[in-house]
Amino acid sequence: MVSDFAQLVKQQADIVKIIGDYVRLRKAGAQNFSGLCPFHKEKSPSFSVHATRQFFHCFGCGVSGDVFSFIQKIENVSFPESVRFVAQKCGIPLPKREFSSEEDAQEGRQRAKLLELHELATTWFEEQLRSAEGALAREYLSGRGLKPEDIQKFRIGYAPESFHALRERLQSVADQETLRLSGLFAFKEQEDGKPGPLYSRFRKRVTFPIANESGRVIAFTARALEAGEKSGPKYLNSPETPLYSKGNVLFNLDKAKQVIREQKGAVLVEGQMDCISVYLAGVKSVIATSGTAFTEAQVRLLSRYTTRIIVNFDPDTAGANAAEKSIALLTEEGFDVGVVTLEGGLDPDRYIREHGAQAYFAALRGAKRHTDYLVERARQLFPPVTAAAKIEALNFLLPHIKRMPNRITRDEFAADAAQKLGIDSALVREELKEAAAKRRDSLAHSIPAFSEAEKVLLQALAGALSEPACQAAVAGYDANEVHFEGLTVAPILKQLRHRGSRDPMEAIDDPFGRGLLARALHEELEAVNVERVTAALDTLRHRHLERRQRELRAAISDAERRADSASVIQLTAEKLAVDRQLREL
Ligand code: UTP
Ligand code: MN
Repeated sequence: MVSDFAQLVKQQADIVKIIGDYVRLRKAGAQNFSGLCPFHKEKSPSFSVHATRQFFHCFGCGVSGDVFSFIQKIENVSFPESVRFVAQKCGIPLPKREFSSEEDAQEGRQRAKLLELHELATTWFEEQLRSAEGALAREYLSGRGLKPEDIQKFRIGYAPESFHALRERLQSVADQETLRLSGLFAFKEQEDGKPGPLYSRFRKRVTFPIANESGRVIAFTARALEAGEKSGPKYLNSPETPLYSKGNVLFNLDKAKQVIREQKGAVLVEGQMDCISVYLAGVKSVIATSGTAFTEAQVRLLSRYTTRIIVNFDPDTAGANAAEKSIALLTEEGFDVGVVTLEGGLDPDRYIREHGAQAYFAALRGAKRHTDYLVERARQLFPPVTAAAKIEALNFLLPHIKRMPNRITRDEFAADAAQKLGIDSALVREELKEAAAKRRDSLAHSIPAFSEAEKVLLQALAGALSEPACQAAVAGYDANEVHFEGLTVAPILKQLRHRGSRDPMEAIDDPFGRGLLARALHEELEAVNVERVTAALDTLRHRHLERRQRELRAAISDAERRADSASVIQLTAEKLAVDRQLREL
């Protein structure tokens, strides 16, 4: 709902100035400014801001809206938060009741409460680190080379051994349900299905706050002080909560974002400690995933600041796999990707401790192009001594080559790979031509290519997966779900689901569908597992909801212009429901 206060803020806010903090805008007319759209990748500006109409629009990707929708989108916040954000920027004092609809109010209150709990917990953990019980943790941190000011900068703390001390600290601030929602506590489910008493999730651990882009703490990761089975996993993370979703957050982005924009590039590492060490060594554009490959949401988040990145993951198997997946996703989204593998199998943190900051800078300067890295990796995995190994190595590389958006770089990469693997380059060209023909073919039928997520589902349903658990994960989804609406692969998924014991190809009744399926199965490289299937389903739901969100946003502005308040109310209610579903995903 558009409240009176929001109207007031909108009248006083200068949209050009506010958007100007995120996008470099140039004057393009009497009242018009233009720049590169922060919501999609582009080389020439199609993003336009109108000063008097207080409106933005991108002719490239179609996003549009007012100052609030801009802030909601770019800061990833709710409507009430965007109003508050803009008000604060303009120095407009907030009224006591800044929320208009009951739903907004409730959502806003809950998020505010959860943020408050995280802030209090952060301070409390910091205090505990200074307490007598924190001695061991202090020793641990100084052993890792962290000085008190570094600890303060990252607000590192200590979660004591007690099961109830944190709850006692927080229970006067929020009710049990909100405490439970915060993820700071664990509980056992009782016989009646209700949650049992809450106890501290993090105990005897060093705590690292995870902040959102604006620097508010929304989650924690906590490291065990000692190794060993009984202290549990090395790092324990907050679960998914209304504030936090692991795949949507980049550790340290709040501190790094400005520098990333200025230096036009970011450094990506795997772990929090790596990130902190690299940052303290002077590379302030460093961010981290939490020990996982990049997600699409993270790519989108980062692409608002830069499309150049150096990936520096652990050289172990898990790290190399995560690096490959991240490279694939990033290059597909048009990122310029460099890769650093540190000598001696060290992670960035240990490398800096052993060789110093200067050596690390040199390593970053010596980052390989991602193509060189991949060829090397192929040679390592399949030493090209036999013909069979060469083919394996080529098969490892082909999907990466095919993904490259630019033809010239693609051909260069292919020729280089052929040479380094000792393969006749004609053979590689042949393979690529086939892929190109398929691409042309699908263009001729004007059918969009399917996404990674759709591919995973096709593979899963075609029975390319070995794990029965995957079958179960897919079986749980309903092909008629609205989320699959409009997907090229929707009809194929439906037919596959009802194929019974028939061969997947036979279950598809049109040649085009069979072609798509063949392509998906052909591209299979890595095992489809439950996580990938679940992630794929989530991605599709997510995309659908985001599409719907955009449509509704546009419809709301439209109705606002027509001063059709009944529609505004109805559409806003619908959008809030979509927002909520998105958060819950
Ligand atoms: P690593 O095992 O490589 O740890 O995990 P690290 O970063 O070198 O940690 P230190 O130096 O021993 O403290 C890489 C990342 O994977 C995630 C964490 O984000 C970690 O930083 N991870 C690891 C977990 O989430 N849980 C774990 O149990 C282990
Ligand atoms: Mn480490």
